[in-house]
Parts: sequence; C-alpha cells; structure tokens
Amino acid sequence: MKGRYIAGIDVGSTKICVMVGRAGREGLDIVAAGTVPSQGLRKGVVIDIDETANSINMALREARSASGIDIGSAYVGISGSHIKSAESYGATGIREKEVRQADIERVIDAASAIYVPLDREVLHVLPSEFIIDGQDGIARPLGMAGVRLEVKVQVLTASHAVLENLERSLDRAGLKATEMVFQPLASALAVLKEDELQQGAVLVDMGGGTTDAALFKGGTLRWAGVIPVGGANTTNDIAVGLKLPQKEAERLKRHYGAGQEKVNLFETEESIEARSMSGKPKQISQPELARIIRMRMEELFEILKTDVEPQIIKHQPLCAVITGGGSQMRDIAGMAEGWLGIPVRTGLPERVRSTVLRETVRDPQYAAAAGLLLYGLEREGGDLIRESPLADSLETVKRTMAEQGRALARRLFGRMRRFPAEGA
Ligand SMILES: Nc1ncnc2c1ncn2[C@@H]1O[C@H](COP(=O)(O)OP(=O)(O)O)[C@@H](O)[C@H]1O
Ligand SMILES: [Mg+2]
Repeated sequence: MKGRYIAGIDVGSTKICVMVGRAGREGLDIVAAGTVPSQGLRKGVVIDIDETANSINMALREARSASGIDIGSAYVGISGSHIKSAESYGATGIREKEVRQADIERVIDAASAIYVPLDREVLHVLPSEFIIDGQDGIARPLGMAGVRLEVKVQVLTASHAVLENLERSLDRAGLKATEMVFQPLASALAVLKEDELQQGAVLVDMGGGTTDAALFKGGTLRWAGVIPVGGANTTNDIAVGLKLPQKEAERLKRHYGAGQEKVNLFETEESIEARSMSGKPKQISQPELARIIRMRMEELFEILKTDVEPQIIKHQPLCAVITGGGSQMRDIAGMAEGWLGIPVRTGLPERVRSTVLRETVRDPQYAAAAGLLLYGLEREGGDLIRESPLADSLETVKRTMAEQGRALARRLFGRMRRFPAEGA
C-alpha cells in the first residue's frame, strides 16, 4: 500500500512553502518541500494577485519535481492582522438524554450564529469547553448523560476580501484550497507538546511581515491575535540605520543577530565588514547592529505584550513557545523571556518526520507547513491509519508522533470553514 498524499501550502510574507506528506502505516512522512521567496504579499496579505500566483506556481513546481506528485489541492495556511478571535456561546437540549454527535453539531451551530459583518467571514469555530447541566470544563461530551448542552467557542473571523484574493491567486496557480487554516493553529500542531497544550502555552509564530500569537489551554485554543510587525521590520531598521542595502541588512541580521547576552559587545567594540550601497566594503559596529536589533525586538514584544498579557494573567500558561523564521535569531528566547515574564522556548516541528528530508524540515520556519500536513491528515486521512493492520497495536501500545498530532487536531479543530464556504 503506498498511502495517500497530503499537501500543505504556507503562504507567508517572506516565503511560500509547499509541503507534501504521505500518510501511511507508519504515520506521516514528509516526502517533499518546495520553498521560494514570496512576492505579491505584504504582512500576510495578497497585494498583487499575479505576483502571488507566480510565487505559488514556482513553489508548486519545486515540490512537484521533488516528489513526482501532481498537487491539485492543498491545505492553505493564512495569516494577517485582519484575523480576529472572539468568544461565543451556544446552548441546546440533549434529545436522547445522552449526548450524540448531532447534539454537539447543533450546539456548535448555535454558538456559530454570531453577527459577522458582510466584509468578514468565519474561518474557524473552535469549542473551548462544553457544559452539561451546569457542569463545566467538559472537553469530550459525547456519550455523557444530561438534558442541557452548552458550549463556549472561539470564533476566528477573517476579511472576506483577503480570503478572496488569496483564493484567486491560488486559482491562477492552478491550486485548489481544501481548507484555509489560521497559521498559528497549524504551527501549534507541529510544535506544542501535550502538557503545553493542556496546561497552557502561548505560541508565537515570528514571521517576516507579521507576528502571530495564539494561547492554548485544556487542549484547545483560547485566544489568538496577529500583529503587523515582524522580522522584515528589523531588517529594514538595519538597512536604514546603517545605510545598507536590504539584502546586506538581512544577511547581517541572520549572521550576527544578537541579543541580551551580547551586551558585552558594547565593550569589545568589534566591527564587521559589510557591503555598502555602492558595493564597497564598509565597517559596521557590532554593538550598533545589536542595539538596532534589540530596539526593534523590544518594541515588537511590547506591542505583543499589550495583547497577550491580559491572556497570560487570565490563563496562567506554563510558557511561551516561539517558532517561525524570526525565532532563529540568536538569544531571542532569552530576551523574550525577560519581556514576557514567562519561560520561553524555541519550537521546532517535532511532531513530523521525514525519511528523505531528514533534519531539513526540523526548522522553525517549516512549523506552519508541517502543521498543515498534520491538520490535513486528521481531516481526510484519519481512517487510513485506523484501517491498517497496525491499528490495534497503535491503539494499545504507543501512538506514533503523527497519531498524536491527529488526536490533537481533532480536539483543536472542532469545525472548520470549508473553502469555498459551503452554502455561503
Ligand atoms: N537566523 C535568523 N535570524 C534572525 N531572523 C531570521 C533568521 N532566519 C530567518 N529570519 C527571519 O524570519 C523571517 C521569516 O520568517 P518565516 O517564518 O520564514 O516566513 P514568513 O514571513 O513567510 O512567515 C524573516 O524576517 C527573516 O529575516
Ligand atoms: Mg509564517
């Protein structure tokens, strides 16, 4: 049996990454990835359909030639500060005095019936807890006895125009979106550990154009927010501050990017060679570079904290997990710890494996793409593994990493926006 293929596409402001995974007996195996710099996007949002379509096309072609698989549809990760989360609530009677799937669907439907302005669309409806006859904190109500079922949900909405433009770009590249998935949800699937999901963690996906945050607790999403500041701002600060071309600023940031622990650089006054606008070599002071980076990062976390701090106080998470390309900056976890006031670790997509790409995909910049595959596995491949001869041992002995990811997805994503929206 050769298994089934699942594709995910992370459409970011910096890069577009198409990932292909094969769902087989041993779980999910990433067989190919195509990554290209993204054009036509700004802060997670399409500003030029043709350019975006072109980039998508190139990433697709790369993934196609690496995997030999024709990719017609994919799970699409989206971001942007147009995405907002809000709480909602629904209630219904339990028909047979025992909660059935239909009761769960009905109560979630009731909670989904919120006012959504015409220019917005519901992206996800994520149940955070069920209440049966006044008993709260129920995660899995199926089969429980009672007469009244209530649910608290997080509703994530997105700008209709933004979704539409992304869909058009995909369309032009010949790719169908199976579903649109809020990127940090996908990243969380790939990087968060079980106890972090249960006891609480803030996931911070540090991209080029946006920084996306999501708080998980009790196995579900409690809050999400996107700020329109990211690694590209840091690069720009370096370029402007040190009068360097963007490309050179980016290189210095990645190579020398330093934080707190490098404070002693102020004393060493080390200088580094860079290429100036005219192409001539130019001496740059490393402490100055560190200062520019630190100032921007400090500002970014200050903005983030305004949104996240009330949530930290409310949910008391164990830690924050940073991921995405920006989390590769040297010492960033240590700096973030000081700014957020909770422990911070860097999250790699550890819930996926790859026989061909091996360690390449264990990189925070692939967290969202890998998470999309885990998400897709749950949505469409759930039965594949259950049907396999290994099913019994999988159930009783040890669940594979991908299996854990699937169970996770089931809890995290109660219901999703089908794309194009059904009946909408
Ligand atoms: N080693 C590094 N140090 C600092 N920043 C980095 C490093 N590697 C990548 N980045 C930054 O990460 C950002 C891209 O994040 P990524 O998650 O890959 O993309 P996207 O913006 O598409 O979500 C860019 O701003 C890039 O400069
Ligand atoms: Mg990203």
